[in-house]
Amino acid sequence: MAAGIPTSKRIAEELTKQDVWSVFSPAGGHVPKDSLNLGQGFMDWPPPEYIQKAASEAIQGGAAGNHYSIPRGQLSLRKALAKRLSPSFNLPNNRSLDPNTEILITSGANVGMYSFLAAFLDEGDEVLVPAPHFDQYISSITFHGGKPVYVPFRPPKEASHQNVSSADWKLDIEELRAACTEKTKVLILNTPHNPIGKVFSEVELLEIGKLAKEKNFLILSDEVYDVLALTPSKHVRIASLQDFWDRTVTVGSAGKQFSATGWRVGWLVGPAELIRATLAASTRVTFTINTPLQMAVAVGIDRADEEQFFETQQKWYEKLRDTLLKQLDELGLPYTIPQGSYFVLVCRIGRQEPLRHQGLPILELQRFNQNPVFLEVLLLHPYG
Ligand SMILES: Cc1ncc(COP(=O)(O)O)c(C=O)c1O
Repeated sequence: MAAGIPTSKRIAEELTKQDVWSVFSPAGGHVPKDSLNLGQGFMDWPPPEYIQKAASEAIQGGAAGNHYSIPRGQLSLRKALAKRLSPSFNLPNNRSLDPNTEILITSGANVGMYSFLAAFLDEGDEVLVPAPHFDQYISSITFHGGKPVYVPFRPPKEASHQNVSSADWKLDIEELRAACTEKTKVLILNTPHNPIGKVFSEVELLEIGKLAKEKNFLILSDEVYDVLALTPSKHVRIASLQDFWDRTVTVGSAGKQFSATGWRVGWLVGPAELIRATLAASTRVTFTINTPLQMAVAVGIDRADEEQFFETQQKWYEKLRDTLLKQLDELGLPYTIPQGSYFVLVCRIGRQEPLRHQGLPILELQRFNQNPVFLEVLLLHPYG
């Protein structure tokens, strides 16, 4: 309490929480030097050199790369995204996304989602959140007066003692339906999923989309791991099915796609009226996003095909996944084999002692909400 003046209630609540980044970041000073940090989404490699070079060139190339972008985002990036993403949205008559009305560049996926919720939530509106979930969603809902309504993913029974696939974790459509009320305004969908690794099938997405129409709510589809649907799974956008486009905003992240999480470049794709309202909010949250890194991400997206960037990266992540799963086999811990994203859920029922491997302590990994027996492990630091 500064000068005896209390913080707002929403921040008072935040002050009691610790985020995983602050706890597990080496800079936070909490991580013992000899431990393996598997608890956090941290890529320890940079974006490709041609993208780094494009960023330097944007900064050194005169005024344009160093001043405000327009709030909607750099045109070069919106055009690059329209070209790359249009086929995956399956729009009527094969039309392309309109970079001027249907794409919004945001300061990472997080600010995109925050702005969307600012644009659509009024006090008391309810947001369906399948749990477990990415932690940032909750404050983005409550800061705007919304109320999260959790609907649990159901793991298969065997998950406590044997390996299962993330495909077997189910969101029961009847439970989702039962959670809907007059106040339900939005569902936050996440595929590929953090932390389960689930890639929703077309059948599952159809059920969800139909429910959204029946109960008339919007879908905020967080697809930041869209390029990390690992073989043999296939990423399907809910916005590409039937007429669900009309009520869906799809979220993407250059940070996740190009190992550039610190660049804070993300985007939203959706129908013009949903994007227009979200832009009205994001203009008041961040105004614009840093210009040179948007220009560099545009180059990355334009060159992705000729560089075979996403194909190569996906194979790399598959190799990391297989290495880590092998190590978990050695530990004798059952896990959920992820279909996508870069997380592995490990079940530690009956294992209270600290985890160690080859003599090294493994950091107490991130426990996920509402189910303390499953731990979340990332693929990013395989060792041995
Ligand atoms: C599911 C999910 N959505 C969004 C984000 C945030 O993306 P960005 O860094 O672009 O804000 C993350 C980051 O971990 C995530 O796991």
